Amino acid sequence: MKSRLLILGPPAGGKGTHAERLAAELGVPHIATGDMLRKEVSEGSDLGVQAKAAMDAGELVSDELVGAMLVERLEREDASEGWIIDGFPRDLKQAQVLDAELGNRGVDLVIALEVERADIIERTVGRRVCPRGHVYHLTHNPPETPGVCDIDGEALVQRDDDTEEVIVHRIEVYHDESGALLDFYDSKGVLRKVDASGPPDDTYARIHAMVNSS
Ligand code: AP5
Repeated sequence: MKSRLLILGPPAGGKGTHAERLAAELGVPHIATGDMLRKEVSEGSDLGVQAKAAMDAGELVSDELVGAMLVERLEREDASEGWIIDGFPRDLKQAQVLDAELGNRGVDLVIALEVERADIIERTVGRRVCPRGHVYHLTHNPPETPGVCDIDGEALVQRDDDTEEVIVHRIEVYHDESGALLDFYDSKGVLRKVDASGPPDDTYARIHAMVNSS
């Protein structure tokens, strides 16, 4: 099975939900740049302070900051046998940073999730997260106890960038950058598009079949 995977897709496309499950199944780390940045913000680090305004506005954090953060993460021991990266690259410049870091082998497979705009907004408004990054949805994936993370018992909250106004802008940013990015991976023969509408288990089954057959 492939072990160097990227999951791309629009905001609330399900990248985190499916990447976490697939990474557990493959036994590789789930590397999510959004989660890493939110951790930096919550810790008040220099990187977090620099990233926060862009994140709250639904803009991309600078390629230099995120690229350096991702490269440092990939060089850790647990990433030596493979990984699933969720949320990086977002543009061609980031794709080039990743290529330079990976060398000849590159990525094995790029999964691009496809979701309608109305579904994105509904998923965002209903999303709840725990401080450690576990993701729920009030309707599609509720926790066993309302408001409490099943895994670590922490209180669930709504993300600061999950307002309808910010999500509309995040969708625009995704559409501005994703065309060239998807073309880049398509030209390398590693891109697979997945219908990510409907129940999470159905989408996961499609992703799983694709990873097994690639
Ligand atoms: P990030 O956290 O990566 O945000 P995003 O790309 O907008 O993606 P989301 O986290 O909103 O959604 P997701 O696709 O992971 O969906 P999820 O699984 O949660 O980044 C946040 C910010 O950080 C960016 O705006 C930017 O500022 C900055 N940033 C991050 N990476 C960067 C980079 N590389 N460069 C520059 N800046 C960067 O699912 C959504 C909800 O839908 C859940 O509640 C889920 O339960 C539910 N759901 C319903 N049906 C389904 C289904 N079929 N499949 C999956 N989930 C479903």
